[in-house]
Amino acid sequence: MRMKKKKHGQERLKLLSMLTVQNVEAFAQNPNSYYDCERPLRIEIGCGKGDFVCGKSKQEPDYNYLAIEKIADVCTLATENYAIQRGLGDLAPNGGWKRADGKVFPLGEVVEFEKNQLGNVRFTVGDAKELLSCFPDNSADAIFINFCDPWSKKGHTKRRLTYIEFLKMYSRVLKPDGKLYFKTDNRPLFDFSLEEVEKSPFTLEFHTFDLHNSEMDSINIRTEYERNFSAKGFTINMLIAKNNK
Ligand SMILES: C[S@@+](CC[C@H](N)C(=O)[O-])C[C@H]1O[C@@H](n2cnc3c(N)ncnc32)[C@H](O)[C@@H]1O
Repeated sequence: MRMKKKKHGQERLKLLSMLTVQNVEAFAQNPNSYYDCERPLRIEIGCGKGDFVCGKSKQEPDYNYLAIEKIADVCTLATENYAIQRGLGDLAPNGGWKRADGKVFPLGEVVEFEKNQLGNVRFTVGDAKELLSCFPDNSADAIFINFCDPWSKKGHTKRRLTYIEFLKMYSRVLKPDGKLYFKTDNRPLFDFSLEEVEKSPFTLEFHTFDLHNSEMDSINIRTEYERNFSAKGFTINMLIAKNNK
């Protein structure tokens, strides 16, 4: 995702740091302690501006969600998007945060919330490869990857988030029977991903080359990229794979 550097991006993220995870190593040892109650953990890789995790966490609230985004400014937008949707306030005109009760927190401060107001989503900045390596085996119930970079050049195959080495890492982090959900508009990347799943510890449970005209569409949460590509006439590919380790 390309984006101009945000003014005060770091301070904006600090304002909402009760919704973010700064130490993923510590989080990975005891995820439940970061939420208001114990629930199975789901992870989204490359959450962008957070539309998917906001929607999914409402649609399926019986899970805790960790959204990973490698670009800090993009993670700031995702966290703000979630906070606004949860009714936790909004950006104040001076650049701080105006909490729902009207109290304004200037840049540099941390907005105080009750833990039970924060809901079931936390955000973190970092590269998924490094962050997932912190998690013990069998930590998560599901991993979602939506519209990741296709890395189309042949020499970049190993960077694709569905390359076999990534799939092995997801299999380790996921519980047995845990699910990998993957969507992309990019057909060559999707065909590559189907082949990688074949070689991996996952079993393909479902796939479609036209999600919006499939039986899955009724529960599908459309992401920002999905809406954009679909509006341009691209069909959307989706696969669900079950961990068979
Ligand atoms: C093309 S955008 C899609 C955003 C969103 N998922 C959507 O569908 O609208 C891909 C996002 O994944 C992030 N990303 C790419 N590789 C990543 C990685 N290894 N770890 C974490 N985030 C990553 C990028 O910074 C970008 O925001």
